[in-house]
Amino acid sequence: MQFLNDNRNILYSFGIIIFLIALAACTRNDEPELTPVHQATPYTFEIPPGFPTMLNIPEDNPLTLEGIELGRYLFYDTRLAGRADEGKFMTCASCHIQENGFVIGMPRPHPYGLDGDSTHHAMLPLINLVWNPGTYGWNGSVPSIEEDVRAVITDPTEFNSSPEAVVEAIQNISGYPELFEKAFGSREVTLDRIARAIAQFVRTLISSNSKFDRYLRGEIQLTQSELKGFVLFTTEEGADCFHCHGGAGNPLFTTHKFYNNGKDTLFTDPADRYSITGDPMDRGAYKASTLRNIEFTAPYMNDGRFNTLDEVIEFYSHHLLWSPYIDPLMHHIANGGTQLTPSEKTDLKAFLLTLSDTTFINNPKFGKPEKFPDEP
Ligand code: HEC
Ligand code: HEC
Repeated sequence: MQFLNDNRNILYSFGIIIFLIALAACTRNDEPELTPVHQATPYTFEIPPGFPTMLNIPEDNPLTLEGIELGRYLFYDTRLAGRADEGKFMTCASCHIQENGFVIGMPRPHPYGLDGDSTHHAMLPLINLVWNPGTYGWNGSVPSIEEDVRAVITDPTEFNSSPEAVVEAIQNISGYPELFEKAFGSREVTLDRIARAIAQFVRTLISSNSKFDRYLRGEIQLTQSELKGFVLFTTEEGADCFHCHGGAGNPLFTTHKFYNNGKDTLFTDPADRYSITGDPMDRGAYKASTLRNIEFTAPYMNDGRFNTLDEVIEFYSHHLLWSPYIDPLMHHIANGGTQLTPSEKTDLKAFLLTLSDTTFINNPKFGKPEKFPDEP
């Protein structure tokens, strides 16, 4: 019996192997042909000194000069939503505004979509996202920038449109089909190509020239107050920010991880990190978003509850709330916060302001193109 069984197993395994080989051969033939990008010019991504060398650039969407250029047009072209015939215009830049670090900014914490409904969460900036490991959004539910573009198109609180309408709108604007050809090898406008081009552009939005970066490169000095603030930021007995927001050897100023940082005792948001993982310890947890350009990206937190950095510093110093879900890295919870003195608060804020990168905010390559493809 045993023998028979073994024999049958061998035959069975053999069958599986043959099946797998056949399957492999099939999938190779059935795979959609990769868009030819050979005629597009590869974009050389320069990793700023001290930044992580692992970039999240999908294999099937390499950065090219032509792809990035097309993506920039689409990012800024308010006809992208495909609803111009109703007199309604919207695109990424309607909410992601460069001078605000690519958030909509005050006084509208929750932006409105094309039909007047506001988004569920406040905004996230578009800064250094090429290093995000694939957890976009406050709760990390979006796996790629390409996916985010698709979601924006149909989201009732954003474009509230359809892929067909978006593709048709772009296809019918003169000048675009040529740009698709240059970027992707043919004049065909597809949702996939629109998403890829915009994602390429967003991946080039790099901030690496703040006062703090220049200090790390030995180009300038920080003031005494800024230096004291940096020490506070990166020490547990100080302001204790670095575990979640990086800073010590992590120039991104985000860990891309999710924490409950003690803002509430009751958790009713149906779109927190818990809604994605189902892990009770993720209740009330959100991404510790980047602190780069934090001066420009108010209001703060996923619900936009704080309008100023002073309010944020007050919160972490004195107003933490305990709950069973609070992250263990909130070391000072027993005291309600780190209890910074007024001068320490001044120093911490001075340090946070060294993360402002005016080169990024003003870089013309990230801004609105001077004219769109159909303009002479
Ligand atoms: C109506 C306003 C609005 C429009 C239009 C909009 N966004 Fe956003 N965007 C948001 C908000 C709000 C968030 C935070 C969403 C969340 O996490 O719940 C966000 C988040 C993102 C993120 C995630 C950032 C991160 O750090 O995880 C990306 C990427 C992004 N948007 C790209 C785009 C692109 C590309 C477009 C255009 C196709 C676009 N957005 C259009 C409001 C908007
Ligand atoms: C346990 C991890 C943790 C620690 C420690 C921590 N933070 Fe945060 N921080 C977060 C999380 C998570 C968010 C987003 C929370 C939300 O949206 O509700 C956040 C959000 C912020 C924001 C708003 C970001 C935005 O884009 O809206 C600022 C500013 C900030 N933190 C500064 C600090 C400072 C300064 C310290 C030290 C005093 C600190 N954080 C300590 C986890 C932490």
